Amino acid sequence: MLNSDSNNPNSTHRIVKPSSDFYTTFSEVEILEIIDALEVRREIPLKYSYKGKGGKIWDNFYQKYIIPTWYRTSNVEIELLNNNFQYLNGDNLVGSKVNIIDVGAGNSYPIKKYIRQLQKLGKINQYIALDISEALLDVSQKNFKNWFPKINYINDTLDIENSCIPKTLLENEPNQNQETINIILHLGVTIGNHHNRSRVFNNFSKSMKKNDLLVLTNEIGSNSKWNGEARGGCDYHAENIYKWITSAIAIKSEDCQLVRKYDSVRDSVVANIKFLHNYTIIFNIQGIDKNIEFSADDNITIWRHHKFEIPQLQQELAQAGLELIRYSTNKYSSHIMAICQLAHIP
Ligand SMILES: C[S@@+](CC[C@H](N)C(=O)[O-])C[C@H]1O[C@@H](n2cnc3c(N)ncnc32)[C@H](O)[C@@H]1O
Repeated sequence: MLNSDSNNPNSTHRIVKPSSDFYTTFSEVEILEIIDALEVRREIPLKYSYKGKGGKIWDNFYQKYIIPTWYRTSNVEIELLNNNFQYLNGDNLVGSKVNIIDVGAGNSYPIKKYIRQLQKLGKINQYIALDISEALLDVSQKNFKNWFPKINYINDTLDIENSCIPKTLLENEPNQNQETINIILHLGVTIGNHHNRSRVFNNFSKSMKKNDLLVLTNEIGSNSKWNGEARGGCDYHAENIYKWITSAIAIKSEDCQLVRKYDSVRDSVVANIKFLHNYTIIFNIQGIDKNIEFSADDNITIWRHHKFEIPQLQQELAQAGLELIRYSTNKYSSHIMAICQLAHIP
């Protein structure tokens, strides 16, 4: 709903209310977190952009730009899982089986070949897909059950920035004298997208026990040396999130611009909604209106990615009681797969 102010094309001050799509996509708790993030740091956390229509946006992006085809044979996650298979197949414990817990599973496509390899060795106990987005869990379930009808599949919603992995999902029934270890995956450079990485690392660490592994992928290198070219997620994914979020909040396309830049405060590359007019967004939460004001030229960050240098990754892991036990890079040396364990306490 727009007020008379915003109906006047000459007015430089617009007043808008988010659409019903916004209120049906996000829970009250999530809307409160979005309002807080907008007020405190002018950001809509990227994690929320995978929910609702955002699930389809990610799956489409994946199908169009990431899935291997005859003309695009390489895929970072598939290549790195394959290269590290000898460390990720449970062979470090004699006779062991593995549970794969895929946090931020998306459409589960990246793990298809890896699970097939585990299945051939008789190593897979079960696959657990966890994600903040119900929409993507639906896609994951459909894909996985189609590929692996005989493997036990569980899924659940989880925001790893706010919660640990529930203990009930991680505690294994003693299985015919075989030990089962948990391999927790966090793929798709998702660790570099979080607002609060230290909380994410701490939640992983608190979820793990001795011998469990945490496996993540991320881009490596220097963020500040970004050449200004939008590629991969920063290009298509950010653009489609921008279209969806601006329409869900009812910001008119002619009143804003999509701007990508280097954010020196958070040392990451970001995509922002830049306002061309003064704006008031009126959120309604628990029956109470909450106004947030923006001036022309203000920005809202809707997408971010932080590349790691290896020593910094080791430092962030150590602060959460985790240890990098092995890493390798893809053939272009642009991405890393990091395999971590709970730090050894003497
Ligand atoms: C970049 S995609 C990667 C998907 C998949 N792992 C892959 O490699 O293709 C990020 C995924 O993590 C999920 N996600 C983002 N933030 C999350 C959070 N805080 N907790 C749980 N899932 C999250 C998104 O919904 C999305 O499915």
